[in-house]
Amino acid sequence: MPETQIAEILDGKACAADTRNGLKERVSVHTGKGNRAPGLAVILVGDNPASELYVKNKITACKNVGIESFLHKFPADASEEEVMKTVQILNDSDTVDGILVQLPLPGHLNEAKILEAMRPDKDADGLHPYNLGLLLSGKPGLQPCTPAGIMVLLDKYNVKLEGVKATVIGRSNLVGKPIALMLMQRNATVTICHSRTKNLKEIVQETDVLVVAIGKSQFVQGDWIKPGAVVVDVGIHYEKGEGDKSIITGDVDYKAAKPVAKMITPVPGGVGPMTVAQLLANTVYSYEKRLGLQ
Ligand code: GUN
Repeated sequence: MPETQIAEILDGKACAADTRNGLKERVSVHTGKGNRAPGLAVILVGDNPASELYVKNKITACKNVGIESFLHKFPADASEEEVMKTVQILNDSDTVDGILVQLPLPGHLNEAKILEAMRPDKDADGLHPYNLGLLLSGKPGLQPCTPAGIMVLLDKYNVKLEGVKATVIGRSNLVGKPIALMLMQRNATVTICHSRTKNLKEIVQETDVLVVAIGKSQFVQGDWIKPGAVVVDVGIHYEKGEGDKSIITGDVDYKAAKPVAKMITPVPGGVGPMTVAQLLANTVYSYEKRLGLQ
């Protein structure tokens, strides 16, 4: 592909709207038959502005599709016992189908312990070790929202995965490890890279489908991208631009990558909306399972 080709945008905003419309329809069929609405409980600890914004977006999205949301907000110095007690109450609640613990948690809280305290069948984020184990085993279940959303987006645009060289940059439980498993399940040949990987540029230059979740602004340069590659950018960074203007960047140098790639996710409007849509999908899935509506 010539380098003057401008990449097609993988429009996460539009794709997420399609998912939400489908869910809204499903929920209205259920409630129309006299069933209660699905319920999602959100635990937010501290006042990280980015987390507050994400939670606000998630609650608004719930409202849009007819999911009832319950926000449990704790101060930054909340004790582990307090948070754990709330998780137990939500585990036992008849009106809560999904529980989400917004990450990152303040450093004094044991993230793994809190995630493991959740009932796996209410784990709306798919981060409980039981659900991650199902994913590893190739069995259906609640899956982490960002990678599941990326797969929906790639399928929407008919991105070929079978036999392609896929590279994931980042190895978190939230994104890197699960997306690598999902791509492998679809018969891509997957390389997982991270901050200690040597010859990263050379690996990326051979990559057909690139997923970047390294958490560093504009880390991947335009000349790393293989012409005709599909680029998925999971990063989101709020930076100071010219004057007092703030700019939003991803983990990829978007401007430089766009003339080289075949398809690329914008930031914002790419992966972010897909994460939220998938959270709603997981909540409705748990709800239908709990109420025997599938
Ligand atoms: N923080 C950033 N992304 C996510 C996510 O997908 N889920 C949760 N729980 N926290 C996050």
